[in-house]
Amino acid sequence: MKATAKAPANIAFIKYWGKNDEELRLPANSSISMNLSNAATITTVEFSPRYSADEIRLGNQKMRQSEATRVSKHLERIRKLAKNKLFAKVVSQNNFPQKTGIASSASGFAALTLAAAGALNLELSEKELSILARIGSGSAARSIPDGFVEWKAGKTSGDSYAHSLYNEKFWDLRDIILVTSEEGKKVSSTKGHENAASSVFFKTRLKNLPDKIRKIKNALRKKDIKSFGEIVEQEAIELHVIMMTQNPPLFYWNSATIDIIRQVLQWREEGLPIYFTLDAGPNVHLICEGKEEKEVFKKVKGLSYVKNIIINSPTKGARIIDEESRNNNETIR
Ligand code: PMV
Repeated sequence: MKATAKAPANIAFIKYWGKNDEELRLPANSSISMNLSNAATITTVEFSPRYSADEIRLGNQKMRQSEATRVSKHLERIRKLAKNKLFAKVVSQNNFPQKTGIASSASGFAALTLAAAGALNLELSEKELSILARIGSGSAARSIPDGFVEWKAGKTSGDSYAHSLYNEKFWDLRDIILVTSEEGKKVSSTKGHENAASSVFFKTRLKNLPDKIRKIKNALRKKDIKSFGEIVEQEAIELHVIMMTQNPPLFYWNSATIDIIRQVLQWREEGLPIYFTLDAGPNVHLICEGKEEKEVFKKVKGLSYVKNIIINSPTKGARIIDEESRNNNETIR
């Protein structure tokens, strides 16, 4: 009654922001992402009569109570499916440095879902796993399938899940994460989603999104970095405009964020095909093709406000692994 799973974090090119159903985490819009090779969570779940309550650890530490309750609630859903009442021990570890402001809820809930379902011998399809992971944390739905992923918003819980558009080998893209702040965010994305619709721009965003999604899927299919990167950037700016104009406003940027954005525009003007995107935090994700990695790395490693650089390629979705291999997970550069 024990299983270990590894799941990647993902970077959204078309962002999920705003929910139609809080409890079920049904998103206001569809989104598109890529799984990240160097930002993963590995989680072991063991159900046993030896435990009198769920015991949840992140790294060497006990999890904060509010987070542990959210994990326990998710375990409860999976126990219900398996008609099992045993408590579990959960040991979870991120292979990216802690306190980097990189959201680990996508990788965390995807790994938890797969490991818990595996430990209870639930035979779930990729679609069912994606739905379950989504209820734990929306963007976790996208960390289940391989490579480049689309999460169709759907209307009901049963039709809101992610599927792979292309596997990880399709396009040698990079997401070079520039960590400029090691602080966790003050307002969680769960909370932020709730107020998205109060932005005067939200309705317009939803109206325009189907066309934007059609265009980015076209650019992805053609591996057209210019069209793709331009949409990725516009989308990141739009996300943060919504955040800044919702009530209460949300400012996730710091001063380094804007410096890096300016720098990216400058490097692009000088001929380097590089684009930026941002999630619910100040760290900037640089998107370019693999052939540009060395040049980009040379440029960014000299920036004084960059505390850490994490280079990611596209990778597979969540999978069951041997418990022993959890230690062979040193992939950070
Ligand atoms: O799944 P959550 O609640 O962490 O929301 C993710 C929100 C963004 O990272 C801003 C966008 C996205 O689609 O990943």
